Amino acid sequence: MFYNKFFKKQTTAPKTETERIDKVKSSVIPKHVAIIMDGNGRWAKKRSLPRVAGHHEGMKVVRKITILANDLGIETLTMFAFSTENWKRPKTEVDYLMNLPEEFLKIYLPELIEKNVKVQMIGDRTQIPKHTLRAVDKAIDDTKDNDGLILNFALNYGSRAEILHAVKEIALDIKNGKIVEENISEELFSNYLMTKNLPDPDLLIRTSGEIRLSNFMLWQLAYTEFCFTNVLWPDFNEEEFLNAIEQYQKRSRRFGGI
Ligand code: FPP
Repeated sequence: MFYNKFFKKQTTAPKTETERIDKVKSSVIPKHVAIIMDGNGRWAKKRSLPRVAGHHEGMKVVRKITILANDLGIETLTMFAFSTENWKRPKTEVDYLMNLPEEFLKIYLPELIEKNVKVQMIGDRTQIPKHTLRAVDKAIDDTKDNDGLILNFALNYGSRAEILHAVKEIALDIKNGKIVEENISEELFSNYLMTKNLPDPDLLIRTSGEIRLSNFMLWQLAYTEFCFTNVLWPDFNEEEFLNAIEQYQKRSRRFGGI
């Protein structure tokens, strides 16, 4: 009691967002954060708006979180923007979602360039409309020399398809004598995935209260810390993101050890 009262280090709660950011930055920062942005439709429904209004609001949140992640010194931010299963949605919604990267980049690319952000993409390009790819490829090219945060869009991404593709490529390389079966290791396998140039995520955030992975980075998330929040993606903000990072900072990561 006496000790606590007189000698315990004073820990004052940060007052401003800048103070909070500084506090978060003074502890361990995850290198790679991946986000399943969920709840856009429910956000819109609660406001009697069309579902696409939720996606539009969600797009603005992508910008906010990208800027903060860059400020925090996070190296990679992977955003699940469209899954291989999302084609099942009504055509109008799919078309809207396929227009969003273009709209996002039209508005925010200059800011991303200025902030030294590097845009990348993972996903199956074959089904993505040409206009969407054109916008994304331009952003990738315009930011290729930046060395700040990697903003990695998962677009038409599905983890099982990614793994199957890797298996087929490995089989082909064995057949062609490029590799031998004995050399297949976790490291080699990782190099056949779309994320080959990225570290595995340290932290996964999923919004909207759903507690599942929905075919997202199944291999890469093996040792990732998970943070699920009930907040719907369009309501997600800097404070929520800092909450998730703080949760991560309290976790003890043992990677199977003790
Ligand atoms: C899931 O919410 C969200 C999506 C399928 C799309 C996510 C896309 C964005 C947040 C915008 C992306 C922005 C850029 C820049 C590409 P849902 O529609 O499944 O929501 P619900 O579960 O409430 O219906």
